[in-house]
Amino acid sequence: MIRLGVNIDHVATVRQARGESYPDPVQAAVFAELGGADNITAHLREDRRHVQDRDIELLKQTIKIPLNFEMACTPEMVAFAIKIRPHAVTLVPEKRQERTTEGGLDLKSAFQGLKAAVDTLQSRGILVSLFVEPTEEAVEISAKTGAKAVEFHTGKFCHAIDAAGSTLDKLNVLSSLVKASKAAASASLQSHFGHGLHYGNANWLQMVPFAEEANIGHAIVGRAIFCGLEQAVREMKSLLNDPKNFPVPGERYQK
Ligand code: PXP
Repeated sequence: MIRLGVNIDHVATVRQARGESYPDPVQAAVFAELGGADNITAHLREDRRHVQDRDIELLKQTIKIPLNFEMACTPEMVAFAIKIRPHAVTLVPEKRQERTTEGGLDLKSAFQGLKAAVDTLQSRGILVSLFVEPTEEAVEISAKTGAKAVEFHTGKFCHAIDAAGSTLDKLNVLSSLVKASKAAASASLQSHFGHGLHYGNANWLQMVPFAEEANIGHAIVGRAIFCGLEQAVREMKSLLNDPKNFPVPGERYQK
């Protein structure tokens, strides 16, 4: 089964746009849990543009499913994670000007800092995942940090698969994720996926061997406007796992 992590940042974005107390991302997390979310993902950005410190504290106290805390690799955030003790931390690159996390970590230049953060957090029982581009090189460097998981940035994959015309083209696009996931499995790293996945492409993850988790926010929160969050989460879980949504009937898994 591919676990679904529901990213509730966009609920906080709507709240912050008006400076009100609603909609509440913690309430959203509860509805996501009722819809079958396997974990909740939230990104506390250094500029606090959407999720706030208090949201993370309340999430940790409220939800029964694991909290995946997304953060930049900074001393402030590492200290905050140690205080909160989420189930997992996903280390992401952060730029003030970007609309969202636009690419994977620059593993080579950030290596020492990442390794130190991985050591500190994992020695306290927090699983660390690194948000990286889906390449074998990224997997190799990630493994050297000692992290237990990688989350492959699926932004480019999503644009390419949305643009690909034929099934064959789509399978070719998929091959980069398949390769990266196989490399991760060989290095004993969990394969997570996230960014840009939506109701028209997430089912392709069913064809990625060793895919363990998908973290999805924008598409789910967007759909929830029309059908409610529980239903939006249920539909996404079905795309990720139900054989009826397997993208190429008859095609074998590429293990
Ligand atoms: N995973 C990570 C590490 C992210 O930074 C993001 C974007 O905030 C997501 C998943 C979710 O991406 P999206 O909102 O496009 O589904």
